[in-house]
Amino acid sequence: MSTNVIELNHVQKNFGRTQALKNVTFNVPTGEVVGFLGPNGAGKSTTIRILLGMLKRNGGEATVFGQDPWHNDLQIHPRIAYVPGDVYLWPNLTGGEIVDLLLRLNGQNHTAKTDELMKVFEFDPKKKARAYSKGNRQKVALIAALSQDAELYIFDEPTSGLDPLNELTFQQEVLKLKEAGKTVLLSSHILSEVEKMCDAIVIIREGEIIEQGNLDQMRHLSRLRVQVETDAAITGLDKQSGVYDLKFTNHDQTAATFAVDHDVLGQVMAALTPLGIKDFQSTPPTLEDLFLHYYSDKGATQHVAQ
Ligand SMILES: Nc1ncnc2c1ncn2[C@@H]1O[C@H](COP(=O)(O)OP(=O)(O)OP(=O)(O)O)[C@@H](O)[C@H]1O
Ligand SMILES: [Mg+2]
Repeated sequence: MSTNVIELNHVQKNFGRTQALKNVTFNVPTGEVVGFLGPNGAGKSTTIRILLGMLKRNGGEATVFGQDPWHNDLQIHPRIAYVPGDVYLWPNLTGGEIVDLLLRLNGQNHTAKTDELMKVFEFDPKKKARAYSKGNRQKVALIAALSQDAELYIFDEPTSGLDPLNELTFQQEVLKLKEAGKTVLLSSHILSEVEKMCDAIVIIREGEIIEQGNLDQMRHLSRLRVQVETDAAITGLDKQSGVYDLKFTNHDQTAATFAVDHDVLGQVMAALTPLGIKDFQSTPPTLEDLFLHYYSDKGATQHVAQ
C-alpha cells in the first residue's frame, strides 16, 4: 500500500470563471496529522470536497487510499470520518438521535466511546437540534466523527464555534487519534491550534499551495524576535542587514527589541558582545508570525522548505 493516504497533484477546480484551485499539490502520509492552513476563500473546503468525491476536479490527480475519490467514493467513504465546516442538522431530531443516525449512515454503532465523548464535550444529547447553538451543532458532528473507528479523519475548521475548553478537548482527542496511528487532515486558520497537534503543515493561498513542511522546516524560514539589554549604548544595528523593527526601549539606548534573520544572528551577537550584554532573550517565531509574513503584501515571495 502507498505510504500516503492522500495524494494531490496539480489539482485544479473552477467555479464558472472563479479559479478556486489553481495548483494544489501535497500529500498526507499514513499516520500523520497534517494542518491545512489558509485564510477565508483560499480553497480549503473545495480541496476537502474533492477528496471526498463531492466535487469533480477540472485538472490534476487526486487519490485517497490510492483510489480516485470522484469514481470510487463509495469504496473510500467507509474508511473516512468527516466533519464539514458548516454543520446542518435535522431540526426535529435530538442531538443524540442525530449522532446515532450519522454513525449508522457510516455503518457504525453508538459505543462507550460515544458516551465518553458526550461527557468530555459536556454535550446534552436530549435537546432538539433546532435549539442548539453553533458550538453545539459542531459538537454533534465532532462526536459522531470522533467515535467512528476510521482510518482517515478530515476536519474542516472544526473548532470555529467551540469555546476554549472544548477546543482543548478537541485537541486532546486528535492527539489520541495520532497515538493510535490514524491519519488526520485538519483545516484551520488558527495557527496555534495547528502547532499543537500537527506533524506537518500545508499553507494554501488563493488556490495555490505556497508552503509545506514540518514545523521545524517552516520555522527556519521566519525571523527570531530578540530582546536585549547592554551596558553601553547600542549603535550600528540599524545598518545591519537582516535586522528589522529595531526599537529602543529606554532613553540611553541600552535596551532594544528587534527581529533578525537566522543567518545574520552571529554577526549581530558579535556586534552586541563588546557592548556588554546584560540580558538577551530570543523567541522563535510562532506560526502566527509566519502566517502574517505570508499573507502580508511583501510575503508574496515564494519559499521552498528544506
Ligand atoms: N459552490 C461554489 N460555487 C462558486 N464558487 C465557489 C463555490 N464554492 C467555493 N467557491 C469559491 O471558491 C473559492 C474557495 O472557497 P473555499 O470554500 O474552498 O475556501 P475556504 O478556504 O474553505 O474558505 P473558508 O475559510 O472561508 O471556509 C472562493 O473564492 C469561493 O468563493
Ligand atoms: Mg471552508
